[in-house]
Amino acid sequence: MSSFETKVQQALANPQNQGELKDADAVGTVGSPECGDMLRMWLKFTEKDGKRVIDRASFQAFGCQTAIAVASMATELLRGKTAEEAKQLTAHELTGDLGALPPMKIHCGQLVEGALRNALENSDPAATPAATPVTNPPIPMAPTLSADLQRKPAGTIRIVPIA
Ligand code: FES
Repeated sequence: MSSFETKVQQALANPQNQGELKDADAVGTVGSPECGDMLRMWLKFTEKDGKRVIDRASFQAFGCQTAIAVASMATELLRGKTAEEAKQLTAHELTGDLGALPPMKIHCGQLVEGALRNALENSDPAATPAATPVTNPPIPMAPTLSADLQRKPAGTIRIVPIA
């Protein structure tokens, strides 16, 4: 098993911050039409030292184990960051201890980044939150992480907001 696979397995054994944040200030949902995976992220802000910072972040993922592992890392990394600081984080930075994603899994990190950006766009207190319930059925996971890592997306992967 590659070291990346081992790290993903470890993250999946104890994923952090999974599930809806009931009193969230913002929610972002994105999907990848090509691989069919979807990810939703919730953000809750608080005031700290006169700054509005992320108090908690949580996620729900449908489909891909790598996206779950990245989202687990990312939601831990986001705590204490301002919206501006969070906006600067790249998909690569959001993977945290997982390190660089294999080429066919890069878009899994981008799915997490996309959900974060979508939530941040919706976190402006003046803007109307665009939370819409997920109505699509969850996409079944690949049976094993190895199978998941080999699951090839068809063509170029796009990450699109789901209103
Ligand atoms: Fe598409 Fe991971 S998000 S395979």
